[in-house]
Amino acid sequence: MLNFATHNFIRAMHTSSGQFFWRSPSNIAIIKYWGKHGRQLPRNPSISLTLSASFTDMALEYAPRETSGEGIELDFLFHDEPNEAFRAKILAFLESLTPVFPFLPELSLRIRSGNSFPHSAGIASSASSMSALALCLCSLEDALLGTLGDPEAFDRKASEIARLGSGSACRSIYPYAAVWGATPDVPGASDEYAVPAEDYLHPLFKSLHNDILIVSAGEKAVSSRAGHALMEGNPYAEPRYDQARRRLRRLLDVLRAGDLPEFGKIAEDEALTLHALMMCSDPSYMLMEPNSLEMIKRIRQYRADTGHPLCFTLDAGPNIHLLYPEEIIHEVRAFIDEQLKPLCANEWVIGDWVGEGPEEM
Ligand code: PMV
Repeated sequence: MLNFATHNFIRAMHTSSGQFFWRSPSNIAIIKYWGKHGRQLPRNPSISLTLSASFTDMALEYAPRETSGEGIELDFLFHDEPNEAFRAKILAFLESLTPVFPFLPELSLRIRSGNSFPHSAGIASSASSMSALALCLCSLEDALLGTLGDPEAFDRKASEIARLGSGSACRSIYPYAAVWGATPDVPGASDEYAVPAEDYLHPLFKSLHNDILIVSAGEKAVSSRAGHALMEGNPYAEPRYDQARRRLRRLLDVLRAGDLPEFGKIAEDEALTLHALMMCSDPSYMLMEPNSLEMIKRIRQYRADTGHPLCFTLDAGPNIHLLYPEEIIHEVRAFIDEQLKPLCANEWVIGDWVGEGPEEM
């Protein structure tokens, strides 16, 4: 028997064409997700700050499919150019989503996408691009079936779909901050999708800066996918997952209190733990470069000399994310120019900050 949603779907299918346009940002984890199981399910809970200036713009156009055929009909442009490698990846992902979005094979789809940061910057674009794609798909579902009118249900589904594309992407759906992974410390938190964490933030974290110091713009020697997989044989894996849970609990108190020095301590401990886990995987590997270490030394020295509450974190790569409050921006920018920029590839620094999350345009 056809249910109500199916009736709507069949009706919409024959009449609809249109497009959605989403801008979705990247995010930076403070408590890191490193280790997964099943289909992108995390071994420990994580928390991130949502960024602003590093984003993906994506337009999804759809029309009834005119020719019948196998699979999904997809045209894909990246920065207005066809890109077969990206198209193949997105197509495979969309095919895997047909059980969730059964209307996809009935449509002719065209995706146009672009990033605010150069593709060659060595900055992962999976969080921004997969969250943008998930948001476009949820808008499409809602247009065809009318099933996602409730904003909370919409965000939750978008977060879950983004997670299937790239784990950490599920946290980009929310303004300011998000928690992903079940933990008794955050009611409603789940391994399947992220939940908003804005309510845990002292206001000073909502305007925190996160400048990205590009140490190397090259391709990483070991992908995140391979890195997660190596956690399975890592002898420190279980203690690490416990540590992440404890640190998350502590960080939630620190975020509420607006305690920047303690925030910095946790952020740096987490970044160095992530990289230590890589160094004691089998086979071992390193993603930090000599200039990553030199920057860390200079940041710590500057903090000791001035008492300014700035700190760093890293994701799975050599680039340094420098976190600092708005009120010391002039001092910190001078420090960057004098001491950190010369260590960057082509003196490359991307100014970013905590932001309000995705926008439908
Ligand atoms: O989402 P993935 O599979 O690219 O993994 C991201 C892992 C880290 O960036 C290192 C940490 C995190 O929580 O974002």
